[in-house]
Order: sequence, then C-alpha cells, then structure tokens
Amino acid sequence: MNHDLIYQLEQHLCEDVLQLLHAGTEIASEQGQSLYLVGGVVRDLLLGRANFDLDLVVEGDAIKLASLLGQREGGEVVVHPRFGTAKFRRGGLAFDLATARAETYSRPGVLPAVHPGSIEDDLRRRDFTINAMAINLSGDSFGKLIDPYGGESDLKLKLIRILHQRSFIDDATRILRALRYEMRLGFQLEAGTEELLRRDVAMLHTMTGERIRHELELILAEERPEKILHRAEELGVLKEIYPTLSGDSWIMEKFEQARLGSYPSLRAIYFSLLASRFSPQEGEAFIERLKIPGAIARIIRDTLSLKAGLRILETPKLPHSAIYRLLHGYSSQAIVAGALASDSALIRQNLELYLNKLRYVKPSLNGRALQQMGLSPGPRLGEILHALEEARLDQKVKSKDQEEELVRRWLSE
Ligand code: CTP
Repeated sequence: MNHDLIYQLEQHLCEDVLQLLHAGTEIASEQGQSLYLVGGVVRDLLLGRANFDLDLVVEGDAIKLASLLGQREGGEVVVHPRFGTAKFRRGGLAFDLATARAETYSRPGVLPAVHPGSIEDDLRRRDFTINAMAINLSGDSFGKLIDPYGGESDLKLKLIRILHQRSFIDDATRILRALRYEMRLGFQLEAGTEELLRRDVAMLHTMTGERIRHELELILAEERPEKILHRAEELGVLKEIYPTLSGDSWIMEKFEQARLGSYPSLRAIYFSLLASRFSPQEGEAFIERLKIPGAIARIIRDTLSLKAGLRILETPKLPHSAIYRLLHGYSSQAIVAGALASDSALIRQNLELYLNKLRYVKPSLNGRALQQMGLSPGPRLGEILHALEEARLDQKVKSKDQEEELVRRWLSE
C-alpha cells in the first residue's frame, strides 16, 4: 500500500468520485474482479497535477460493472459493446470504464486485435512508461501502485520512454504523443526512445489523415503548441506529415502573437498560419492529406486566396469602401491570420481597420425605408443601397438625415 498515493487520491478526487470508486470496487469484488485507475490520471496524481479524465480498468466485464453501478448509485451509463467499454455520468462527473485487454498488432497503422486480459496485459499495450501505471482500488490493495515498466522512476527522471522497440511501428500516433507530453510536462525523450523515434518517423505514413489531424489538433490545444511543432520539425516529424509543413522560427513568433490577441477561435487561426505560406495547390493537398473538414478547410482556402490579393492594401489612402469590398466574404480568422502573417504595417493596419470597424458598417436606411421614400422594388433600389453603403464606409454621409438627403439628390438627378 502506498500512503502517498492514498493521500493524493483523497486530495485530488472529490468526495463524490471517491464514493463512486468505492461502490464500483465493491461491485467488482462481488463479481470476483479487481478495479484499477489507469493511465494519465495515475501519472498526474503522482505528479500532483489535476486531471479530471478518469480512466478505470476492470479485470472482468466493464459493461456489466458500469450497468450495476448505474443501477445502485444512480447515473447515466452509455455502453460500447464492440470495445468492451462504458461511460458513467452522474451530475458533473464522468469516468470511462474499460475491460482489461491484451492487444496484438497485425500491421502498422491499423487498429490492433483485442481480447480480454489482465491488468498487466492492459499496461503492456500502452504508449509510455509514465502512462503505463495503474492504482489498485480493490479492498486491501487500495492505493497499491502497479508499475511494471518503471513509470514512477521515469517521472522523477523526467523521461518519456516507450515500452518496447516496436512501439512506434505498432502505433505511429505515439510519435506525436511523445512530443506533446515532452513539452507539456517539461520532460525529455529518453535517448533510446529518441533514436527509435527518428528511425521510425516514416511510419507516420501509415496513419490515416483523420488520426494525424486529431493528433495535430491535440497539439494545437496545448499551451505552447509552437514549441511542440518546433521540436517535431527538428526530429523530422513534420515533413512526414506534410512535406512543407513547418515549425520554424516564423511559426514560433506568429503563434505567440496569435495568443496575445485572445481570439475566440485560436485553433482555426493556428491552422491558417500553418498553411499561410503554402501555394493554393499545397493548401489543397494539405486539406486532403489531413482530411480537414469544412469550416477549417474554408479558412485555409480563404487564407491562401486572400494572400494573393493583399498587395492592394498597400495602396496609400485606399478608400474604406475598397478595403471593404476586397475583404467582405472572407472568414474573419483568415483575415486575422493574414494580419499576423503580413510584414507590411499598412496591410496590417487596413486588415485591422476592417476587422474592428468596417465590417460592422451599415447604412441607416434599408430597402423598406427607400420604398417609403418613393423607390419601387427592383435593381435600381439595390444599386442605391449599395451606393449608400459605400458612402457610409467612405464617410461621405454620417447620419440618417444625411443619407436621406443623398438619396433625394440621386432621385432628382
Ligand atoms: N494510450 C496509449 N497509446 C495511445 C493512446 C493512449 O497507450 N496511442 C493510453 C495511455 O496509457 C494513456 C491512456 O491510454 O495514458 C489514455 O489516453 P489519453 O486520454 O489520450 O491520454 P492521457 O494520458 O489521459 O493524456 P491527456 O492528459 O492528454 O488526456
């Protein structure tokens, strides 16, 4: 029994969760099974870091255990019989329950074949020593750490270490995961692991676009993704994902600036910056390789199409209506990224003027008001509305009265 661990469990897990874990353990022992906390939460408990992503493993039947727990304790249970997993939810708390399993990899890149196994089997299939630990929650063994690969020692040494020589071949997502943990925790790849990572970096080709994109999104959700990208470039990882994808000093600088802006859709802006030095053809190939879905794909396309027209914004004293016409219709994230990426102060200024002001400019008069002034519906009315918008943007009119006066003048001409 590890008293430190019991202390950490009690410190970091709230009353409700602890009570549920005890209830789960009781049910498991009635079934002659043992229940464990595994993976990231164990790592983070040992590090004294908060982690609300609770993963439980039972040597037995996770679905049955979750259902019984739901019945006895109240709570919503969603089961996935194909994977032998269940999600338990009650109020604001949730955890995942899985049946301990062993895995065999038939060939790189495809999901492994799984069959029920012991907790040791379950830990053997995991990515890194620091993620391959479990805490026994059952009866007298409550609080006992199961650490077959020296994860606790690697936490002290601050090392990311794979469990066996074929790890990156079996699952190339581990290449990206390793770099994510390295930066997040301030750890280092263990020397042998780094050597194998460099050796197996081409295995990234075996990953589907969706899986690579998912991993890239997880990287972009980290606090300082540019550091991970920089490291990925240094290790030859990025060019395996996409040949011209870069994590160079330009990206480092632009990502930092992007964060200073506290934009609501930072991830989209990161994607836009990553693609902003691509040609349109490269942009399309990048979207295709990573199977980037609609909204972000549009922002990438906007970024590249906008880039081609940005020089116009360097014209001195450009009327506001011309800035508006050039930028109207582009996604705001692409415009933000265009401003971050541009090295011209005038272009940046005009993009910011559009984002902060021009895009919100509307004439006071609308179609109905124009009809009340005597115009009939039709193309002429549309033209006048358009001309009014330009006059407003260029500050030729500044009030409703001035707009009416202008319209009357046009009508009398
Ligand atoms: N895991 C693995 N190999 C993978 C993905 C996951 O071995 N390719 C295992 C690890 O033991 C990991 C656990 O599954 O700890 C849960 O995965 P995930 O939720 O992705 O990671 P966490 O460690 O919980 O990390 P995070 O803090 O990023 O959620």
